[in-house]
Amino acid sequence: MMKIIKSIAEMKEYSSAMKKEGKTVALVPTMGALHAGHLSLLEYARDVCDISIMSIFVNPTQFGPAEDFAKYPRDLDKDGALAESAGCDCIFAPSADEMYPDGYGTYVDVGPIGATLCGAARPGHFRGVATVVLKLFNIVAPDAAVFGAKDAQQVVVIKRVVNDLNIPVNIITAPIIRDPDGLAMSTRNAYLTPKEREQAVNISKALFAAKALFDNGERSSERIKESIVSTINGSGLIKVEYAEIVDTVSLHSLNSIDNTALIAVACRTMESKTRLIDNIVVG
Ligand code: PAJ
Repeated sequence: MMKIIKSIAEMKEYSSAMKKEGKTVALVPTMGALHAGHLSLLEYARDVCDISIMSIFVNPTQFGPAEDFAKYPRDLDKDGALAESAGCDCIFAPSADEMYPDGYGTYVDVGPIGATLCGAARPGHFRGVATVVLKLFNIVAPDAAVFGAKDAQQVVVIKRVVNDLNIPVNIITAPIIRDPDGLAMSTRNAYLTPKEREQAVNISKALFAAKALFDNGERSSERIKESIVSTINGSGLIKVEYAEIVDTVSLHSLNSIDNTALIAVACRTMESKTRLIDNIVVG
């Protein structure tokens, strides 16, 4: 039977009881509205540790004032059933008051890597992510935590925090799970209008084409970015917010790709005003 825990005290107790039995614990942080991308992370968790714990918490501190915090889908019964069928041992689903009680005041400042790419359009987003993930690490004390490569900058930020603050958690990155046409799975895909959903295939198409350019010898970031922007913007209902080619660790912009690079894009849709991100690593 999968456990569902809502209080921090009980979560700490469960995790330390597991560790006293000699078991290792993996954490999969999510905001719920689970899809196959989230469930794939549980497989990695189960591979590396004895016990898999999934947190489900729509974290208010990572949403901007004009973002979709209020309308973000929440359905713990459905998520619980999905997680259990994927072999999850325990869900941690605290309330916002449990995580951020009156008087709460401490935040993790992640520095410049939180201000570029998605951080430029979403000021404070990665501060909120780093804060809630550090809290979850302190509550669950996992041996490992699994994050999806879909949110590439998030992985870089979490690794930075873990390294900078000497947090004893092994960070595991799991590959992007895509719909059959290539669109990266995301909770926010549910916001898309049917026409936007049709055109959204161009985001992954543009990234796969960018990788093909690189594989065929193209090294100029400018030319690769141009190709991405024209493929995505050409669709009509989806516009590129940024298309960047950056170092995989520092996130610094690269003018030419000498070895490994992260190609990251963020787009906005014109009808439902949905923000979609995707990325690919080359080299
Ligand atoms: P959320 O968007 O719910 O995503 C939870 C985890 O699932 C993240 O690690 C994300 O990268 C991963 N994920 C989402 N879509 C994926 C896909 N198509 N393939 C593989 N992995 C995918 O990311 C967050 O929540 C929050 O910022 C959180 C880390 C929980 C902090 O609040």
